[in-house]
Amino acid sequence: MKQFDYLVIGSGSAGLSFALEVAGSGTVGIITKKERAESNTNYAQGGIASVLDAADSYDKHVEDTLIAGAGMCDREVVAEIVKSGPATIRKLIAMGAAFTRKEGELHLVREGGHSHNRIIHADDMTGREIERVLLAKADEHPNITILEHHFAVELITEHHLGIQVTKYVEKNCFGAYVLDTETDRVERVLAKVTLLATGGAGQVYLHTTNPEIATGDGVAMAYRAKARVSNMEFIQFHPTSLWHPDADSFLISEAVRGHGAILRNTDGEAFMERYDSRKELAPRDIVARAIDDQLKKRGDEYVLLDVRHLGRDELKATFPNIYSKCLEHNMDMATDLIPIVPAAHYMCGGVWTDINGQTTINKLFAAGEVACTGLHGANRLASNSLLEALVVAEKAARVAPDVMRQTEFRTDIPQWDDSGTFDTEEWVLVSHDKRELQQVMTDYVGIVRSDLRLRRAFSRTKLLHQEVEAFYKKSKVSVPVCQLRNMIAVAYLIIRSAMLRKESRGLHFTTDYPNTSDVIEHHNIL
Ligand code: FAD
Ligand code: SIN
Repeated sequence: MKQFDYLVIGSGSAGLSFALEVAGSGTVGIITKKERAESNTNYAQGGIASVLDAADSYDKHVEDTLIAGAGMCDREVVAEIVKSGPATIRKLIAMGAAFTRKEGELHLVREGGHSHNRIIHADDMTGREIERVLLAKADEHPNITILEHHFAVELITEHHLGIQVTKYVEKNCFGAYVLDTETDRVERVLAKVTLLATGGAGQVYLHTTNPEIATGDGVAMAYRAKARVSNMEFIQFHPTSLWHPDADSFLISEAVRGHGAILRNTDGEAFMERYDSRKELAPRDIVARAIDDQLKKRGDEYVLLDVRHLGRDELKATFPNIYSKCLEHNMDMATDLIPIVPAAHYMCGGVWTDINGQTTINKLFAAGEVACTGLHGANRLASNSLLEALVVAEKAARVAPDVMRQTEFRTDIPQWDDSGTFDTEEWVLVSHDKRELQQVMTDYVGIVRSDLRLRRAFSRTKLLHQEVEAFYKKSKVSVPVCQLRNMIAVAYLIIRSAMLRKESRGLHFTTDYPNTSDVIEHHNIL
C-alpha cells in the first residue's frame, strides 16, 4: 500500500502542472502507465492558443471558441480559460519553455477557426517542449514521486467498502487500485485528493493521431465509479493525418494549413471552396466532413495536401518535424503532394467538471482531455486543449489543498481481490476484440453517422462488452484486458450519446437529422 496527499493519474500537461502547483502543500504521487513522457501532450504539434498580440482580444478568442463549439460551450468557462491563458504561458516561459520567436517576440501563427494569429508554438513540436519543461521541474521536486509503468485499474470509492454506490448518493474517492506492471501486483494507492489526468481515447478508432496510451481509461473508471460523464458524442477527427501504410496516422499539423497549404483531390482540384467560404481554414469539423465527402463520392483512399508553393527552406525551417517525417517515407513536401486522411484526434466530452476541475465525486478532480469543462462544446477550436489542460489543472490546484487538509486517509480499504482468476493464454481473443471494436467505431460511429449505423454499433459493442467482462472476471489483471474493457466502455458512451442526439451539431453529424435543432441545445449526460 502507498499513501500520498495527492494522487495524480497521468503525466501529461494536466497531471504534471497540477502536481507542480500542489507539491508545496503535500506529498504527490504521479502514476503513469508507460514511460513518463508518453502522452498525447508529447505529440502536440501546432501549439497553444492565447491572446498575446496587442491587436488581438479576449473577446475575439472567446467568440471564435463559441462559434466552433456550435452553441454548446459554457460562455463563462470559455471567458475564464481564455483570460487565464497569457499568465499560464508566461509561467511556462519562466520555467524555461523555449517557444519559437521572431525578432525576439513570440511567433504567433493561425489555425482553423481562429480570427487572429494567436498560436504560440515551439516549431512543430510544441508538446514535446512543454512535457520536457514540466517533467524536468517535477523530477527535481522533493515532494513529487513519479511511478512509471503503474496502471490505474479502478478508482476507490465507498463501493470498495461494500456500500452500494449509485449516481444519486454522495460519493468520495480514496485513491486507486494500481497495477505495477513490473511486479504484476495490484496495489492500493491511497490519497486524500485524486486527480484524473489520463488524456483521451483516440485508440477507440482504427485510425488515430493519438499514441497507444489514449484508451480512455479515466473516463471509463470515472463512469464505473458513477461520476457524471457528458458530451461524449463529440469526437474530433483531425482533417490531415498522413496516409501511409507505415506512418500510422502521423499528424500533419493544422498550422500547415494556417501557413497556406491547399487541399486537393486526386484530380488536383482545390475543393474546399465548394464547402465553406473560409476554405482550408474553416473549423475542423467542416474540413474533415468535406474530405470525407470527397473520399466517399470519388471512391478515393486519400486527398492531397499541397505546400509546394511554400518552398523547401521555409518548410524545413517552419515544420522540421513534419518535413523530416514525410521525407522518411520518400515524400518531399517541397516537390510532392502529401496524401492525407482524417483520423480520430480529440475527445471533446469526458468527465464533467466545474471550472476548478471538481467532478461529481468528492475529492476527485479531473483536468485535461479526460475532462469536460464546457470549453469545447460540440467542437474544439484548434490549440485550445493544451490551454484548457494547463489552466484547469492550475485552478484545481488552487482548491485541492483545502480539500486535502480536511481529509484523513481511509485505513479500511480492502486489498485487491483476485481470487478465482488465472493467467490467460488467450491473447488472440483480446487482440481480435480490440480490432473489431475499432472497426465498428470507424465504420459506424465516425465522421458521418446514421440511426442504422449507431444501432448496429450498439448491438456489436454490447456483445463485445459481455465477452470481455466475462474474460476480465476470470483472468488475472493485465493492461491489455483492462484497456480493452475501458475502450468498450468509452465506445458505449460515445454511441449512447450519439443515439440520444436527434440533430446534427458540431462534430456530431447524422444523415437522419442533418440540421441543427433550434430548440435550446442540451448536453447528453450519462
Ligand atoms: P495526456 O497528455 O494524454 O496525458 C495522459 C497521461 O495519462 C499519460 O501519461 C498516460 O500514460 C496516462 N494514463 C492514461 N491512462 C492511464 C492509466 N490507466 N493509468 C496510469 N496512467 C494513465 N492540443 C493543442 O492544444 N495544441 C496542439 O497543437 C495539439 N496537437 C496535438 C497533436 C497530436 C498528434 C495529438 C495526439 C494531440 C494534440 N493536441 C493538441 C491535443 C493535446 O495534445 C491533448 O489534448 C493534451 O495534451 C492532453 O493532455 P492531458 O494531460 O490531458 O493528457
Ligand atoms: C495541430 O497541430 O493541428 C493540432 C492542433 C490541435 O489539435 O489543437
